[in-house]
Amino acid sequence: MPETTPRGLTRLAFGGDYNPEQWPESVWQEDVRLMREAGVTMVSVGIFSWALLEPSPGTYDFGWLDRLLDLLHVHGIRVDLGTPTVVPPVWFYRAHPEALPVTAEGVRYEFGSRAAICHSNADYRAAAATITTRLAERYGDHPALAMWHVHNEYGVPVSACYCDSCAAHFRRWLATTYGTVDAVNAAWGTAFWGQRYAGFEDINPPRLTPAAVNPGQALDYKRFADATMRENFRMERDILHRLSPGVPVTTNFMTALSQCDSVDYWAWGREVDLVTNDHYLITDGRRTHVNLAMAADLTRSVAGGAPWLLLEHSTSGVNWQPRNPAKAPGQMARNSLTHVARGSEGALFFQWRQSRRGAEKFHSAMVPHGGTDTRVWREVVELGASVEALGEIRGTRTEADVAVLWDWQSWWAQNLDWRPSVDHEARERADAFYEALYDRHLTVDFAHPEADVSRYPLVVVPALYLMTEAAGRNLTAYVENGGTLVVSYFSGIVDEHDAVHEGAYPGPLRDVLGLTVEEFSPLLPGERVRVTGPDGTELSADVWTEFVVPRGADTVLTYADGLAAGLPAVTRHRLGEGTAWYVSTRLGADGLGTLLGRASEDAQLAPRADLPRDVEVVRRTGESGTYLFAVNHTGSDAKVPLGVPGTELLTGDRAAGRLAVPAGAVRVVRLDG
Ligand code: GLA
Ligand code: ZN
Repeated sequence: MPETTPRGLTRLAFGGDYNPEQWPESVWQEDVRLMREAGVTMVSVGIFSWALLEPSPGTYDFGWLDRLLDLLHVHGIRVDLGTPTVVPPVWFYRAHPEALPVTAEGVRYEFGSRAAICHSNADYRAAAATITTRLAERYGDHPALAMWHVHNEYGVPVSACYCDSCAAHFRRWLATTYGTVDAVNAAWGTAFWGQRYAGFEDINPPRLTPAAVNPGQALDYKRFADATMRENFRMERDILHRLSPGVPVTTNFMTALSQCDSVDYWAWGREVDLVTNDHYLITDGRRTHVNLAMAADLTRSVAGGAPWLLLEHSTSGVNWQPRNPAKAPGQMARNSLTHVARGSEGALFFQWRQSRRGAEKFHSAMVPHGGTDTRVWREVVELGASVEALGEIRGTRTEADVAVLWDWQSWWAQNLDWRPSVDHEARERADAFYEALYDRHLTVDFAHPEADVSRYPLVVVPALYLMTEAAGRNLTAYVENGGTLVVSYFSGIVDEHDAVHEGAYPGPLRDVLGLTVEEFSPLLPGERVRVTGPDGTELSADVWTEFVVPRGADTVLTYADGLAAGLPAVTRHRLGEGTAWYVSTRLGADGLGTLLGRASEDAQLAPRADLPRDVEVVRRTGESGTYLFAVNHTGSDAKVPLGVPGTELLTGDRAAGRLAVPAGAVRVVRLDG
């Protein structure tokens, strides 16, 4: 059995992507000296090195990598070794131009950037298998090797290829999945617009079409493209397992990046030995630390609650957004340690030394262009010491309070063409509910809709458009047995083929919610409705309304305006031992706060009103103890009630009563017990 933690690493991981091939070897000596100064324990190497390792077909140059791994080993730095299969060398593309992917419009990408790969291409697969084999043979038992890093960020920037090899591969995938072409016709509803297929050979990828493409076809193509990338991951992983037994194999995910919408991480989480994630702050005007917390929670959930590893984030600004602000003083440490609070066994960065050339030279790094007499470097060294001080938390697990249901496949389906409103976005609802829970200081686990959620007092379903009958039964049983469920509009509408469930909306949720929905009535841009209750509650909503007919549920709030005026907007249904809430419109932050407040009462989740906004409190617990992480994202000093006294690990101070967390600081208390 492969190990599930980096081999030979006895501390938390701290370090980053190390690309020494961009520098003369004389710089390497300085690198390792500085790595030790900063407390670096592990680096990722070789991710983009294929062209150097195999300069011409079948000719290998491992000398520099031998010297590098030996140097790192001598200095006690563990290595996360990449297979370089995300960028084949130019000679490979000269020989196999058809390995370059093709867009839905039929345009073939060119060499000269990165990640231009058709994952169905047989020559690419063979070449990737060969270079992986050579690396595993050479370094599979190298004493510096801690883990294998396959490829890089599957799914971005190219999420699917539409070439002829992919078309042939898609037909084989359909034949295996469906058996007969008539089963495909039935699943996709090809009777509509006369799209019936007589044989598999007539079916193509969903290429450019004049109007909306068949949604079943488009959804299956997402599944096919995801499964094809996973086939290639498995191929490399199995080679590594065979030739480098026991060493864990991972590939870096991007669980919460909304641009990365092509990877079903529930499925991928089951394939890796250790879940790893990359996270970058998205500067879109929202609170970046909330998206960060969500990414970390989603990653931990994909890992089934087990410890995971943050493989990349940034010391300061990135360079691929339209505007790339630097991080404020202390922000890097808050970011890194929030990931740790939420289950990461360390913090690594892209990248160690900032490049002078190439596309990412303006991306921050651990060693900036300005060298070591810089704020970033001083903060890196300080963070290294903090990570070192937290070593004893290894193996502990983050405790969650509530579950949010999330499903990449439902997101794909939701984003297909011709939906009731372009203003409704599934990810936006997931973000909004997450943020409302974050502001109530509740720690969130994400769960697949068919997963066992019985241990959570509260389960939230933000716009889960695609939902199976099995998921509906799961949630019904959850409520009957005493759970509290909150469901947002446009959930439970279609099955796995994007076919509307039989009977009234919301098919598999009708019984648990005690209602039906007769029609959707989205609002126009800027249009708002008021939602009111008999106790004087008045909330504001936009984007979406619908005509709800209670069939057992009680009306809690009613539409005061719009086409749905007088009809229920928010309902509550007692079923068995539990309660199911339904919200049929898009509430803003205040409205979601009110709704979740009432649902929390049903769930008997005690309020945490004593914690100030943007002071994040999370616990990790395990054999070595229970650790309370407090992250103060505000500019004011804060106090966090401890309950039990303990020892603060970053300062070494004793802490009791109300823990002082200075403005912008992080504190980690091992609670006595
Ligand atoms: C990704 C990649 C890295 C680098 C960073 C920059 O995470 O894996 O190689 O490009 O983005 O933010
Ligand atoms: Zn292709």
